[in-house]
Amino acid sequence: MTLAHRVLYPDFLSRTLSADEAAALIPAGANVGMSGFTGAGYPKALPAAIAAHARAEHAAGKPYRINVWTGASTAPEADGVMADADAIGQRLPFNTDPIARRKINEGSIDFIDMHLSHVAQHAWFGFLGHMHVAVIEVLGVTADGLLIPSTSVGNNKTWLEIADKVILEVNTRLPAEMEGMHDIYYGTAIPPRRMPIHMTQADDRIGEAYLKVDPAKVIAVVETHRGDRDNVFAAPDANSNRIAQYIIDFLAHEMKMGRLPKEMLPIQSGVGNVANAVLAGLLTGPFENLLGFTEVLQDGMLDLLRAGKMSKASATAISLSRTAFEDFEKNIDFYRERIILRPQEISNHPELVRRLGIIAMNSMIEADIYGNINSTHIMGSGMMNGIGGSGDFARNGYLSFFVTPSVAKDGAISCIVPMVSHVDHTEHDTQIIVTEQGLADLRGLSPKQRAQVIIDQCAHPDFRPALHDYVARAQRNPVGQHTPHLLNEALSWHQRYVDTGSMRQDLPV
Ligand code: COA
Repeated sequence: MTLAHRVLYPDFLSRTLSADEAAALIPAGANVGMSGFTGAGYPKALPAAIAAHARAEHAAGKPYRINVWTGASTAPEADGVMADADAIGQRLPFNTDPIARRKINEGSIDFIDMHLSHVAQHAWFGFLGHMHVAVIEVLGVTADGLLIPSTSVGNNKTWLEIADKVILEVNTRLPAEMEGMHDIYYGTAIPPRRMPIHMTQADDRIGEAYLKVDPAKVIAVVETHRGDRDNVFAAPDANSNRIAQYIIDFLAHEMKMGRLPKEMLPIQSGVGNVANAVLAGLLTGPFENLLGFTEVLQDGMLDLLRAGKMSKASATAISLSRTAFEDFEKNIDFYRERIILRPQEISNHPELVRRLGIIAMNSMIEADIYGNINSTHIMGSGMMNGIGGSGDFARNGYLSFFVTPSVAKDGAISCIVPMVSHVDHTEHDTQIIVTEQGLADLRGLSPKQRAQVIIDQCAHPDFRPALHDYVARAQRNPVGQHTPHLLNEALSWHQRYVDTGSMRQDLPV
């Protein structure tokens, strides 16, 4: 399908440029809002052209970096190429690209790790600065100049509204038949003029199928003909399957006890192996008529939809493996009836997460014995990916699970530690911690009670005695017995790992 089939608004066709010509329109230092969320719907031609432009400028002795704001993570053809060319100055709000991660941790990219629901409103409040250019992937333009969104919506609505200039990347590879799947809500406003968001069911449609843009702002239309990155995940391993089973058994028990409605509450699931294992578990589990209210729709949710176990799924992005995407394309009429893609300010909105009673399930790096969670930092200092939407869902969910294997790096690291080396979610936001060892239900427990349950249920047996010993000695701390700590030891496990390559106490410090 050619550009002329996708762009029915004649004025825009006359603004067609090559990616290189369009990239040259973005000045050094610009704040650039890009589409893209978990490897879906990101621009595919402009970033490489921006990278080439940056290299040419650097070779000529001119500094060239832009600040890149997206929905969430992109792909090697976007973050990867630009980071590799040292074309990114500031990056927000989330990144999974290994080259960009290296540059963030070397200190050459200024990364701002944000709750994904905050990004649009902080941009509107003016907290992030002025947006000069938006580069947005779309699947087409209607004869009226409305934009058919791509495989992710992310912050595109906001970027199109606040940017001075807009470059549209029209993707002629991704299916135009996605038209009608999106639900773009134009009712958000800035306090004190905010109104309630009228959504009472996870599958309510409250907006419009198209993104809007002021045609006068569109400075270039660029064609791209490439699919999204292959969002492939390894098959769930034994640990992930065990964690998934604990969660499913727990949900069934909660329903039996009357603490969870018989009509199951909508599910949010983070990305990765454990999340996929939970979704795979739900496929054969006892729950019917499930609803998804999540950030990213992965293979696992597609399986649930196809099997009729899940009736509808709401997300801001659809990030699939190549095989799942083929099924999605082939059966797009079926999925259009069942999938709703919304702006991330709506998919992750605290008001909605709380009203709808979402069951939140997110992975973490480590938890401490009192239930504080680190989702982002390695040994307190190195950035992994970012907090993403985990905080949006964890604090406001009906139930909030955090999951991890009990150990990392072949058993050298305990993922249950005396004190986390960085806090993303406080003890107040954590209800249930699950590892392959077991499930710790922390609801209604004091810090000291939580410590016993977390150690006994979730810590790896190799680390349990040392954790119990820490708590026992901390309980003799004269300063206070509410959340007992030994300040000179609390982070010693991490220091031991940095010094020796292991947290295990049987190794010399
Ligand atoms: N200390 C140090 N390193 C650790 C660790 C710990 N306690 N636990 C895990 N790691 C390392 C692993 O060894 C692995 O390292 P490698 O890349 O060198 O192999 C890396 O961290 C990732 O671990 P893995 O078990 O593969 O994690 P994952 O793919 O399940 O992702 C998170 C886990 C926490 C990184 C990921 O879920 C995330 O970024 N979460 C935050 C955002 C979020 O929750 N988004 C969802 C909201 S919808």
